[in-house]
Amino acid sequence: MTYAIFDTHTHLNDENLYGEADDIIKRASEAGVLRMLVPGYDQESSRRALELAAKYTQVYAAVGVHPHDAKSVTDKDLADLEAWADEPKVVAIGEIGLDYHYDHSPRDVQARVFAAQLEVAKRKGLPVVIHDREAHADVLAHLRSASPLLRGGIMHSFSGSVEMAADCLKMGLYLSFSGPLTFKNAERLRKVATALPLDRLLVETDAPYLTPEPYRGRRNEPAHVRHVLAKLIEIRPEMADAVAAAVYQNALRVFQMQE
Ligand code: NI
Repeated sequence: MTYAIFDTHTHLNDENLYGEADDIIKRASEAGVLRMLVPGYDQESSRRALELAAKYTQVYAAVGVHPHDAKSVTDKDLADLEAWADEPKVVAIGEIGLDYHYDHSPRDVQARVFAAQLEVAKRKGLPVVIHDREAHADVLAHLRSASPLLRGGIMHSFSGSVEMAADCLKMGLYLSFSGPLTFKNAERLRKVATALPLDRLLVETDAPYLTPEPYRGRRNEPAHVRHVLAKLIEIRPEMADAVAAAVYQNALRVFQMQE
C-alpha cells in the first residue's frame, strides 16, 4: 500500500544528498512522498533549501541556523534569513533550538540566536522547526516566552517522554517521529507515539541521518519515510488509512499549506 506522505524534515541540502537530488526525489515520489520540507542549519544550507524548493515542486524550505552553528552567525546572516523568510516556498523557520549534548556553540550564544530566530518567526507568521537535544526545559522556556504570537511549530525527531510530549502539546506544538521509532530497542518511544493525539503527529526522515529499519546503518533518504509511517500505523489503534491521512493533513496544517 502506498500512502501520500509528507517528509517534514529531510536534508537534501546536505553534502551527502545534494548532488543526487534528482534521483532521490524520483525515488521519493515512487514511494508516495508527495512533499518534503528541507530545513536549513546555516547560511549555505538555507540558501540551498531555497534553491531546491525553487527547482522541485515537491520541495518546501525552512531557513534557519542550527544551535551547532550559532557561534558563527552574524547580524547580517540573521537579516538575510529574515529576507528569505518572505520567499513563497519558505513555510517555516528552522531548524533552530538548543543542543546541550554536543555544546558546539556556547549555551548563551545558542540562547541568543534561538531567541532572535523565534522573533523572526513571529514577525513573519511562520511556524518553527525545533531541534532539542538534552535541553528540554530551556527549549520550552524559550517557546513559552515567544508564545502566544508564535505560529506553532514542530519538535523534530521527537524522542522525549510522555510528560515532555504533554508540555509540547499544551503549547500547540506538533511532534515529528523519525527512524528511531522503528528501532528494536525503542519500545519506550513507541509507547509515547501510541499515547499521543493523532492530530499532532508527523513523520520525517532527518535524512541523511537516523535511517529506519530495515535500512538502518545505511544512508537515509526521503523514500524511507514510508517505514516510519508504517511503524506508526502498526502501533496506533486507528485504521491504517486514517493514520496516514491524518499525518499528511497535520503537515499541511502546521505549514499553513493548501491541499
Ligand atoms: Ni535536521
